[in-house]
Amino acid sequence: MMDKIAIVLAAGIGKRMHSKTPKVLHKICGSEMVFYPIEAAKKAGFENVVVVISENIDTALFKNEKVAIQKVPLGTGDAAAKGLDAVQSAPENAEILIITGDNPLTEADDIVPFSRFFENGNFDAVVLSGEADNPTGLGRIIADKGEFVKIVEEKDATPDEKKIREINTGIYLFKKSALKESLAHLSNNNAQGEYYLTDTLYYLKNAGKKVGVFKMERKLPIYGVNNRKELSIATKIIQQKILDSLMLSGVTILNPETVSIDRKVKIGNDTVIYPGSVIYGETKIGSRCEIGPNVKIENAKIGNGVKAQFSVILNSEIGDECNIGPFSYVRPGNKFESNVKIGTFVEVKKSFVDENSKIPHLSYIGDATIGKNVNIGAGTITCNFSGLEGHKKNPTHIGDNVFIGSHTTLVAPVNIANNAYTAAGSVINRDVPEWTLAIGRAKQVNKENWVKRRKGNG
Ligand code: UD1
Ligand code: CA
Repeated sequence: MMDKIAIVLAAGIGKRMHSKTPKVLHKICGSEMVFYPIEAAKKAGFENVVVVISENIDTALFKNEKVAIQKVPLGTGDAAAKGLDAVQSAPENAEILIITGDNPLTEADDIVPFSRFFENGNFDAVVLSGEADNPTGLGRIIADKGEFVKIVEEKDATPDEKKIREINTGIYLFKKSALKESLAHLSNNNAQGEYYLTDTLYYLKNAGKKVGVFKMERKLPIYGVNNRKELSIATKIIQQKILDSLMLSGVTILNPETVSIDRKVKIGNDTVIYPGSVIYGETKIGSRCEIGPNVKIENAKIGNGVKAQFSVILNSEIGDECNIGPFSYVRPGNKFESNVKIGTFVEVKKSFVDENSKIPHLSYIGDATIGKNVNIGAGTITCNFSGLEGHKKNPTHIGDNVFIGSHTTLVAPVNIANNAYTAAGSVINRDVPEWTLAIGRAKQVNKENWVKRRKGNG
């Protein structure tokens, strides 16, 4: 089999995004845009991928790809040349796919028939064309009696050429030798003063090489993301695909148009996602859960049968059958074992809560470990912040079967041993031994008839 190599063009500035972030690093459903064409290429059999990036992009982002740097954005032709330099050792008849990094909607299914056409026709170069309702800004395919002539960029096109709707998708296949030869002959004598990759096809055609056009079977609403409007169009299409595939795998999503789910999220069957929920990052959710309405989850691992509503859950692990919310804020670093209840207006941070324990109302629990079958009364606060030792956070340890009375203030570091109780309204700043009731509040005094005296009638 022929060597198959993909070069993904991802350098340049992306002026039209008006952003400090390079265009190809803008995210779509949790992944940088450039990873969509990379994955499509790999899935279509081009597993050897070179990404051409600018110096301001961190090369560490690309763990499974080769990286080539284009220091100055001199155009797509120059970028392709930088990519080709990185695969010099490939055989001269290698099949090279070039794909623009701002092309998140192209899929492996579009590339596979294109590659078959290239191989069967024994071409030197072919371009993948598409039909555009509005071709403005795109390169037009100029043909004469069905024969490819050249690609003309919008800025170089005549009024008649601008009417052509068959456009260049920015995806090409080359025999390596043909790419090398044609890139060496590029000039930047055009309206933008750039080295256009598209001119290689014109050169090859005139050099008597076999050049062709293959038209994509489906029509896309956009060919390339150049601004935030196109970013939102691409996001909408990719989001719908993610939701459709989850629904087809057994997840119920109510009012899907109000739900956002990133592409790396995994959800088990018979889970129901209620409206207004957003699930980001590498979140994993089990089966039979009820998520939402209005829940935000990011990078969390959630077991089976979990219920969460009107809450935020970040970078935490939630065990089976837990119940979160309404109005819980589960901050990063928590681990809840099974059947834990985190209730209304409760904030939990960097804490471990063992099975069957409940923090039902109005509490702040931070840097704590809580045993099994614990009940934390309403309004309990762990005072974990040590003003004396800078920003050090002190731990609170609560054993099994502990009952923390309502409105207990736990001044950390402090340990409440197994089976202990604290009285409501206590400030606990000393350890509490097993089976002990700790009362940390002033004794109540009743002054009889005090009110009457105060009002002067007693
Ligand atoms: C390009 C094509 C156009 C095609 C369109 C499809 C050229 C000259 N034009 O136009 O015919 O219809 O794509 O989307 O190729 N890049 C670099 N280095 C550079 C310049 C660009 O790596 O010096 C990368 C960018 O990151 C981008 C891609 O190449 O991902 C395309 O560049 P862009 O400026 O968006 O080209 P278009 O004007 O859209
Ligand atoms: Ca583009």
